[in-house]
Amino acid sequence: MAKPPLSMKPTGWFQVAWSDEIGVGDVHKMKYFDQELVAWRAESGQLTVMNAYCEHLGAHLGYGGKVVGEVLQCPFHGWQWSHEGRNVCIPYQDRPNRGRRIRTYPVVERNASVYIWHDIQGRAPYFEAPDVFASFGDGSSVDDYYPQQRLYRERLELHPQYVLENGVDFAHFKYVHGTPIVPVFTRHDFDAPVSFVDFTITFEGDDGQKIEDVNSGVEAINGGLGVAVTKSWGMVDNRTISAITPVDESTSDVRFMVYIGRKESKDPARAEARAREFGQEVIRQFEQDVHIWQHQRYSDPPALATDEYRGFTAIRNWAKQFYPDGIGGSAAEVYAAIQKG
Ligand code: FES
Ligand SMILES: [Fe+2]
Repeated sequence: MAKPPLSMKPTGWFQVAWSDEIGVGDVHKMKYFDQELVAWRAESGQLTVMNAYCEHLGAHLGYGGKVVGEVLQCPFHGWQWSHEGRNVCIPYQDRPNRGRRIRTYPVVERNASVYIWHDIQGRAPYFEAPDVFASFGDGSSVDDYYPQQRLYRERLELHPQYVLENGVDFAHFKYVHGTPIVPVFTRHDFDAPVSFVDFTITFEGDDGQKIEDVNSGVEAINGGLGVAVTKSWGMVDNRTISAITPVDESTSDVRFMVYIGRKESKDPARAEARAREFGQEVIRQFEQDVHIWQHQRYSDPPALATDEYRGFTAIRNWAKQFYPDGIGGSAAEVYAAIQKG
């Protein structure tokens, strides 16, 4: 176990809650990126995520703050704050304080998750959080799937990048997940903040089969470092979302979600029970990874096998754009040095 050497203040979309945890009128306390935060849902349903401390005398709005219509009212002296974090009412003065503002975060609700845009330079979002259905452009929707199944692990000593590197790490599938043969990558596209990785993989058969004969695989879309979605083909229809969010300088919260495709069945209850079981199996496989990540020490520069350079170089170079200091892992430098001889 070791504190990640990569910045815990990366730029991008990060999950901070599930939508159903914050009903109308709720004020939800959270800590991410070393900040105390609150999320509150107005009468209209609109969700706001903001820093937790009142700009008046610093009360924590998560302890007694109240939603009043479309504003959040501080428990200490009743000042009211809008969706934009502006002070709109001081109850004992005829004018609000127009100058003071509580920092708010761009927020989207998608696939039952709440994502915030985090950027320490305060830039507006410049890419979108991926959608586990729409981003694949195949006309699928949540109605084609059984209810979302979830895993939530709090404050593990790991970094979001560990989880994404799994996507280019072909060798671990055999050892961590027990696949009979090593998968092969058919696409590595790290040109933009949203990147794509496809691979051919099977969980069935023995180690005598050839990967060329395998007819199943996974497509992954990484929306920055915080949120990745996957779609399977040629196996039990499943989609997953993994979302890793830094809490402080050494830990992150891990959320993982699975959808299993609905199937026509004479016995719908049994079909749904089987889908639940399969979903639990997918979660169990993800937990096998978590078990490694939470005890891992990030290796930089890593010792890599020849075939590993391409994928790790691509993902570590790509990851650098999300760090405030522009520094990610150094697999890329190692590769360049080897090329030079
Ligand atoms: S501290 Fe919030 S109203 Fe005074
Ligand atoms: Fe894995």
